[in-house]
Amino acid sequence: MERLASIDIGNDSVKGFLGDFTNTIYLPNVIAELNERSIVEMEKDPLNGLHVEITSSALNRKNGRFAIGKLASKYPNNDELTPDQEKSQSDQPLIMLLTTLAYDAVQHFPEKDGVVEATYYLSTGLPLDETKKGRSKEFKKKLKGSQHEITFLKTPMFEGKVVQLKFEHVLVNTEGFAAYVDLTTNNDGSTKNEELIGKTILINDIGGLSTDSAVITSESEVDNEYSDGIKKGVSTYLDNVIRRVYTEYKYTIKSRGDLVNIITNKDPEEQYHIWVAGSRQSIKEIVDEELGTLAKEEYKLIKDLWRNVPDIRYSYQIGGGALVLKEHLNEINRNDMDFPLRFISEEDSIWMIAKAYFKILLMYIEAKGIELQEPTMANE
Ligand SMILES: Nc1ncnc2c1ncn2[C@@H]1O[C@H](COP(=O)(O)OP(=O)(O)OP(=O)(O)O)[C@@H](O)[C@H]1O
Ligand SMILES: [Mg+2]
Repeated sequence: MERLASIDIGNDSVKGFLGDFTNTIYLPNVIAELNERSIVEMEKDPLNGLHVEITSSALNRKNGRFAIGKLASKYPNNDELTPDQEKSQSDQPLIMLLTTLAYDAVQHFPEKDGVVEATYYLSTGLPLDETKKGRSKEFKKKLKGSQHEITFLKTPMFEGKVVQLKFEHVLVNTEGFAAYVDLTTNNDGSTKNEELIGKTILINDIGGLSTDSAVITSESEVDNEYSDGIKKGVSTYLDNVIRRVYTEYKYTIKSRGDLVNIITNKDPEEQYHIWVAGSRQSIKEIVDEELGTLAKEEYKLIKDLWRNVPDIRYSYQIGGGALVLKEHLNEINRNDMDFPLRFISEEDSIWMIAKAYFKILLMYIEAKGIELQEPTMANE
């Protein structure tokens, strides 16, 4: 028995499709070492209270006990990824991935004496600079060739359950190329956006900590020579805004997500505003200054690429960063080169890579003629 899963291990958040295109998961990429948890009040939703022990030979440290996601962000010693860490070399991406799958497995595979044995076909990926260095093979080997055991500790509903994870197959894609696949294929594998095929396209994925720029050639391949990335993403600039707003107004914006909601609020009365002691204050100047700085860097990257590869026809901006930088980039572009920049929907900007991984997995399953035997739970 096995299930399909696609997981985009973002520096800011993990996005995944589990089983099919309708079942998604979104977890902030935060972990904290946590042995014991003194519980004042148990969360209702297990996703908000993920506390696990992981034993896996794929981890450099082999074993550990962690709070994951929302729960981890409540602990002061929590870890978020930093730009100098490679996804393929660090433990944190694996810890996130294994926990995500264990969370799916306890809900979809049968359990015997508290133990759940689960097998997955997994489609995931790495950023361009890591796949360029040939990291995909070892990353795949770490997952496929290892034993992974995830025990739920003080997690609501799942406490005490043990998941033994196995991978029947692991696809390690390149993030930027995956975005291209999503742009050009429907869920059923048929072609969409036909006008893009045969043209050189630039895909800029503006993520939390990095920006990946994939040049896709007219042969629908990644151009390894010109594709590039910078270790800059939007999280740092959002954090700057949060810090400056606190200094100026003694007002704490609780998370990047809350700030993004303030920036993108559709109601013009609320957009760019906070309420301090009953009075409405604009934070637009701070936001514009910070995001404007990043937008300039991003635009420079786009310009350099277009200079090196003049036959690029369109540049697509994707990732959460594209959403908050859209206006700034368009403004700079209007006054400069007037490139054909394209932006996609909010939902696609965030989910595109994970969705692409799932599409690629379905194509693989079909091409290999694999017949899946999906697990059934006694109560399903
Ligand atoms: N709906 C949204 N609208 C605007 N910004 C968002 C939205 N969701 C997330 N963001 C912000 O965009 C940034 C990047 O998010 P994204 O999910 O693209 O990064 P990631 O994939 O986790 O990171 P990376 O691609 O660098 O590994 C984050 O700082 C996040 O707070
Ligand atoms: Mg990303």
